[in-house]
Amino acid sequence: LSGREIRETFLNFFAARQHHILPSASLVPEDPTVLLTIAGMLPFKPIFLGQRSPDFPRATTSQKCIRTNDIENVGRTARHHTFFEMLGNFSFGDYFKEQAIAWGWEIVTKVFSLPPDRLIVSVFEQDDEAFQIWHEQVGIPAHRIQRMGEDDNFWVSGPTGPCGPCSEIYYDFHPEQGDATIDLEDDSRFIELYNLVFMQYNRDVAGNLTPLQNQNIDTGMGLERMAQVLQGVPNNYETDLI
Ligand code: SER
Repeated sequence: LSGREIRETFLNFFAARQHHILPSASLVPEDPTVLLTIAGMLPFKPIFLGQRSPDFPRATTSQKCIRTNDIENVGRTARHHTFFEMLGNFSFGDYFKEQAIAWGWEIVTKVFSLPPDRLIVSVFEQDDEAFQIWHEQVGIPAHRIQRMGEDDNFWVSGPTGPCGPCSEIYYDFHPEQGDATIDLEDDSRFIELYNLVFMQYNRDVAGNLTPLQNQNIDTGMGLERMAQVLQGVPNNYETDLI
């Protein structure tokens, strides 16, 4: 699939599931707390915080991003860029964990046809519910669901703001290395493709978490990363997108 087809396939999958396709917002955000748009969720921050009512309960976008918080990785890895596009599906107080996981798995394995035995998932260490959904409803073996700490699996868009535990789908380039030692930090073997955030808290300057009015979903799939995997090229720079 070309990058363009991957983008269209993602947006159409969620449009068929009652998500409104919205255009990418500007890279220069309206939000005064950040310099640039770092993620697909940024334009929706006021909705997550209950400051604005959504026009639709579900949305899907391909958002242009500059991830300032990853900038020191650019040029050192095969998968970080200054500029990239993030595909996302969003629920504003509508569906939550179970549905986000089910659709996430469906699009990756049935629509993009990645073999399940090439995929590993991670969950926030305290999120037994996400672990259970992956294990019991999706059928992932327990040893292929990694529990990870706050740095990896608790998503925050900045020091303050909407946040929550997340669950990520990784692709395994080298399944022949076996499951005995799965180290998701090993980027010669794994690449994170899709992050599902269970957006349910607001973090204040003191670091306190207050539950948001609604339970929301914010997801992000790296378009160039998915293109790397589906096009079978060794890094993002060799995809048709770049
Ligand atoms: N906000 C999350 C991220 O950027 C999911 O979209 O990874």
